[in-house]
Amino acid sequence: MRIVFVGPPGSGKGTQAKFLCDKFGIPQISTGDMLRAAKSEGRLPPEITKAMESGGLVPDSVVIGLIEERTQQPDAAKGFLLDGFPRTVPQADALSAMLSKRGLALDCVVALDVPENLLIERAVLRRTDKRTGQIYHLSYKPPPPDAVIEHRVDDQEDVVRRRISTYQAMTSELLPHYERLGLLRRVNGVGDVADVTQRCLAALGRV
Ligand code: AP5
Repeated sequence: MRIVFVGPPGSGKGTQAKFLCDKFGIPQISTGDMLRAAKSEGRLPPEITKAMESGGLVPDSVVIGLIEERTQQPDAAKGFLLDGFPRTVPQADALSAMLSKRGLALDCVVALDVPENLLIERAVLRRTDKRTGQIYHLSYKPPPPDAVIEHRVDDQEDVVRRRISTYQAMTSELLPHYERLGLLRRVNGVGDVADVTQRCLAALGRV
């Protein structure tokens, strides 16, 4: 299974990706997580850190390089779920070229739809456990007392609003691109996490 998850900030890509990857035994490959890991290890150039923290996009060449390398690791041989990549048509074209060179193709692009007011509430109140990467929410899924909690720098409300605008600008081209290729499945991302998982599985034809 080679799946792409597209959706605005806070739509639940990371939350749903974990369930699906466990079920299918494939790795979750998140460009956001890889960039944050590089930043915490001091490997991210300052201009890229600035782009992320201000709600903009990182240059295509940087994320394409990350994906090219990561998707060739042995654990991705049976498939993978790309969370947050591609975000632009040039990224989508690069992905398709790198897969076709290996005789592979995408199976499906799942786009999670969530209205803007919910996105802001979800992102601003999100907290992550630094050690495990587990995603929590202060209202819907409060972290346990022993969690080592982190609040993402780009989850401040003004930055979340900018990330949503960036997403809207970019998907005006990306989603029609995947629709034309017959790969796009739109999923309503509002409701219980388990209900959204069922809708994702239905979109993938795996119920
Ligand atoms: P990235 O880390 O990919 O961030 P994002 O796309 O903005 O998505 P988020 O991680 O904010 O949200 P999510 O959809 O995963 O939601 P989650 O499951 O956590 O990217 C960060 C930055 O890196 C970008 O801004 C950009 O600068 C750069 N970047 C990354 N990829 C790039 C690329 N390809 N090209 C260029 N730049 C790139 O859920 C959110 C919250 O909601 C959680 O608290 C969760 O518990 C809660 N929640 C989830 N589902 C539900 C539900 N059904 N009901 C109630 N609460 C829920």
